[in-house]
Amino acid sequence: MAASLGPLVGAIDQGTSSTRFLVFNAGTAELLSHHQVELKQEFPKEGWVEQDPKEILDSVHECVERTCEKMKELNIDIANIRAIGVTNQRETTVVWDKTTGEPLYNAIVWLDLRTQSTVERLLKRIPGHNKSFLKSKTGLPLSTYFSAVKLRWLLDNVEEIKKAVEDGRAMFGTIDSWLIWCLTGGINGGIHCTDVTNASRTMLFNIHSLEWDPELCKFFEIPMEILPNIRSSSEIYGVMKICPSRESGALTGVPISGCLGDQHAALVGQMCFQDGQAKNTYGTGCFLLCNTGQKCVFSEHGLLTTLAYKMGKDKPAFYALEGSVAIAGAVVRWLRDNLGIASSSLEVEQLAAAVGTSYGCYFVPAFSGLYAPYWEPSARGIICGLTQFTNKNHIAFAALEAVCFQTREILDAMNKDCGIPLSQLQVDGGMTSNKILMQLQSDILCIPVVKPSMAETTALGAAMAAGAAEGVEVWSLNPEDLTAVTWERFEPQINPEESEYRYARWKKAVMKSMGWEA
Ligand code: G3P
Repeated sequence: MAASLGPLVGAIDQGTSSTRFLVFNAGTAELLSHHQVELKQEFPKEGWVEQDPKEILDSVHECVERTCEKMKELNIDIANIRAIGVTNQRETTVVWDKTTGEPLYNAIVWLDLRTQSTVERLLKRIPGHNKSFLKSKTGLPLSTYFSAVKLRWLLDNVEEIKKAVEDGRAMFGTIDSWLIWCLTGGINGGIHCTDVTNASRTMLFNIHSLEWDPELCKFFEIPMEILPNIRSSSEIYGVMKICPSRESGALTGVPISGCLGDQHAALVGQMCFQDGQAKNTYGTGCFLLCNTGQKCVFSEHGLLTTLAYKMGKDKPAFYALEGSVAIAGAVVRWLRDNLGIASSSLEVEQLAAAVGTSYGCYFVPAFSGLYAPYWEPSARGIICGLTQFTNKNHIAFAALEAVCFQTREILDAMNKDCGIPLSQLQVDGGMTSNKILMQLQSDILCIPVVKPSMAETTALGAAMAAGAAEGVEVWSLNPEDLTAVTWERFEPQINPEESEYRYARWKKAVMKSMGWEA
């Protein structure tokens, strides 16, 4: 088997809920082996969401080691792994000490709401308290979501970080930067970098010049010397080094040569290279990105303008419009972990399938406020429309339906901004294995939902970027050549009037979810 495989490419996919390492056969994009580790999230106070950066790093090492072991069992030579790509949960903010390699605080996760008062304070300095004041440079509204406000909070509240900045010991990074620095040597010469897609989620990055913006840094009072170097999404950043705290170094010397935020990687993995092509990924949250080519398109309907990818130092930057939904898969995890009404995601699907209706119950999972298209931090989760007849099955169904309604809201906004409505929705991500959800999604959008046979599009996108930098073409960058992809289709099965009726009720529920927190 090993002899006929040819070059292989690995991808580290570090998401909010889990970490994975996957190895693809470059020629066919066949997934050869992978390993996944579920991650803890800590909620130290209401609205706070943290993760341990060391646990995240350990999970990467574990996934790499276990995948290599599995490959050996399959008699696949790991020496054929020619490049590694990194793709990651975006915005999540880490500050560490470059002399010790130790994080100076837990990672503040993108969903975290502690910066609401920081946002309020910053808004007061803006003429007309306009949330969109920085949008022309950043593509983003001022929100708790992005890294700059999380970093501001850390600089204001964590003495150790203040001190480390004064002493010139602090490094800031999103998860890609933290991982690449550690994996390329850490305190022994680790590379401190990020790519344009991840940088475009910080609010410190100018999406036109593709550089950190001194005025933005001044606005947020961020010292520029703690920021990573900005690189393209596909170039050699450094090579894997042996981690001193672990025995194995199976991939020592392999270049890390691809880096993209997870949603951008999925856009690449779904081969959305043409202007107007879009994908929706269902992970912890749910993110619809539409490629707008080499031009920045600014939304009039609550969407973000973001970098899509830049496939090499000398290659052009591509942009995307993005609709971000904070809570998708996380609502299923909440039903499991907080309400205990099911022991797995599959059981939630089964509960919903058993009734096939929410029986008039609507669930707005605004646990972290509402993102696109509302950008309303005061929203909180609500379940409404309850009667004595409502049971856990209906609530499970309403939770899945909420994911679909939220997607409908961002699709509507995307259609208005783009002018040409999407005729079908390309999907991917963990939740797409849930057939009830996919059918519901098609019913609520009134258009077909199509799911590629290659489910691992996020990791594939990172592998493609990594391979390209090393001269190893992973699969094909030419969409016409994609004969290997087959699609599972879900066609609308309810009439549009019923869909509209349910959507109108959902909107009413959304209105009720707002205004809980000032
Ligand atoms: O912006 C946050 C996003 O990147 C998180 O992705 O896959 O963990 O839902 P995921």
